Formats: sequence, C-alpha cells, structure tokens
Amino acid sequence: MKATIATLPGDGIGVEVVAEGVKVLQAVAEKYGHQFAFEHHLIGACAIDATGASLPDETLAACKQANAVLFGAVGDPKYDAPTAPVRPEHGLMALRKELGLYANLRPVHVYPALMGISPLRPELLEGVNLVVVRELTGGIYFGPRREATDKDLTAHDTMVYSADEVRRIAHLAFQLARQRGRASGGSKVTSVDKANILASSRLWRRIVTEVAAEHPDVTFETLLVDAATMHLLRRPRDFDVILTTNLFGDILSDEASMLAGSMGLLPSASLGAGDLGLYEPIHGSGYDISGKGIANPLATILSAAMLLRHSLKLEKEAAAIEQAVETALEQGYRTADIAGPTTTAVSTQQMGDAVIAALAEEIRCTY
Ligand code: IPM
Ligand code: MG
Repeated sequence: MKATIATLPGDGIGVEVVAEGVKVLQAVAEKYGHQFAFEHHLIGACAIDATGASLPDETLAACKQANAVLFGAVGDPKYDAPTAPVRPEHGLMALRKELGLYANLRPVHVYPALMGISPLRPELLEGVNLVVVRELTGGIYFGPRREATDKDLTAHDTMVYSADEVRRIAHLAFQLARQRGRASGGSKVTSVDKANILASSRLWRRIVTEVAAEHPDVTFETLLVDAATMHLLRRPRDFDVILTTNLFGDILSDEASMLAGSMGLLPSASLGAGDLGLYEPIHGSGYDISGKGIANPLATILSAAMLLRHSLKLEKEAAAIEQAVETALEQGYRTADIAGPTTTAVSTQQMGDAVIAALAEEIRCTY
C-alpha cells in the first residue's frame, strides 16, 4: 500500500528516536512491499525558534493531509520560565485538539527479558497486560485558565467535561476491552476518577456507568485516582483497560511505565473519529540525555507499530515489529535506561538496528 506519514521529531531526544522509528518503518515497507513517504515538519521549541509558533500552520496542514503522524517529543528548558508567552507543549496540545484525537491508548507490556529492570518484584509483574485509555482533548488541559502575573499571584486551571466527551471515550474503552478479549479474568474496564471531590468526576462516573450498562459482557469497576495509583503497584495484573481523564491518564501512564521498567518502552496512539492518528512515545524530550545517542528508541518503534495497526490497518506488519522488539530484548540488547549495572548498553541507533535485524530474521522464517 501507499501511505504518507508526517514525521514530527520535535525537540531533544525526539529527533533521535523518530529517526529509528522511520528506519524501522522503511524496513517494513521494503520487506512487505509497501510505499511509505515520510514528510518531516516542525513542532515544539524548534518550531518556535524557526517560525515563532509551536505548531506552524504548515505543520498542521501537512498532518491533516497525511495518513498518520509519527511524533517524537516537545520541550526545551529555555521555554520553561513561568511567564514564557509561548511554550513548546502548546504545539502538541493544539495538534491533538485540531486533529480531534480524543482517545489516547497507552498499552503496558511487561517483557519477560526485562522483569529484573522494573522496581517491582517479578512475581507481581507476571501476566501484566493493560492499556491506559486517556481522554486527550478535554479536562483540565483545555479548560479555562488564568496565569499568574507579577502583580497578581493567583492562578487557576479548570477541569471541564461534557457528557458527550465522556460518552465517546467510554464507548471506545469498552469496545477495546471486548476486542482485547483477555483470556484470564475476562474483559474489564476500570474507570479512574476523583468523584468524592470533583464535580467533573461525578459527571464522568455517571456517564461511564451508563455506558457500562450497554456493555454487560465487560466487567466494570470504578476507582478513585489516589487508590488507583496504589493498586497499580500492589496488584497490576488485575487491570485490563484503565479509562480515565486527561490529567489522571498522563500521571497514571508514567507510573504504569515502571511496570515495564522504563518510560522509554511505552508507546501511544492518539485516535479520533477517522483513521488519521498521532503516534508518540509517552516520554518527553529528555534534554539531559539528548544529543548523546543513548535514548531508548523502543517506545517510538512500538508507536510506529501502533501506527501500522490503527491508521494503516497493517496488523501483520505491526505484530512483526512488536515481535522484533521482543526478540531484540531477548537477545540482550539494552539501551542505558534498561541496562542493569553489569550490562553494556547499546546506542539508540544500535537498538534500532537490532530491531531491524530481528525483523529481517522473522520474515525469513515465515517463508
Ligand atoms: C504526554 C506528555 C504531554 C502531556 C506533554 C508534553 C504536553 O507528558 O504525552 O504524556 O502532558 O500530555
Ligand atoms: Mg506525560
């Protein structure tokens, strides 16, 4: 098939990891006879430096035209000042909003080869297989906000949800739970909120409970977010689909990444009504390690697999990438973030090469 993939490396290690994602997609295209055209565009701090805007019009237009978007990271300490008029992160938020990508899927897969890397004991991790479904275009990220000024040191952010916003993400979560068809324990949706305090959470819980009634085959439970952070560490195996708001999903997915062992392992897909999706690692621009060639590209490579699955409907190719990542890890390839004290770490590029080599091997085996 022919597809146009807009690539937005962004800032810091985003540039290094997206290069590996593209490399792997190119290898898939060659092996399976597809034609992928990659178009690079600016977003984040590099876009502010070049154009003054964190999401230039040209970038947004190109993303709308593309079949899918592969994204790296945004953020640069030089725009961190509390009074900065324009911030790199705004570019990403605007892109999600403009493309209508209300559902963010963040799957957590625990690799047997990495059991020792997670701060959690291996016996807690066996069989962990969950996905965080994070609402992405509403909530406190997009509600009315007031910045403090030097004259008036008060500020506020507002968590707003409408019933429709909650309903569409809830339906998606229940459908996903059914598709995942978890073998042991059955499909389950755990909705996470703060309904004992927040009005927006009480609406969230009410609507999600209504949607749950339409999906009687899927087990449904609710958890308060503070308790959820604890249960995620105490009994991670019990979770299947975690459905939650924009802010809680942001926080819970970073926590969940430590089940796998590193933020550098978690991919994500941001989806809307059509096939166009945005695929990105959950980690940030990692300024402290950028330019050194040591970042872990696996989260981006796994995001590229999600891109093939969700936007291009290339399930076989997506699964091949996931298998190749598993193989590279089993073969002992480790970037610095997942290398134990006695293991020599490989570079970002070497990890990308290892995945491509495993992919080539796999394809040979299938013939
Ligand atoms: C994420 C990131 C972003 C978010 C930032 C960079 C805006 O932390 O994708 O999890 O908070 O959504
Ligand atoms: Mg985050």
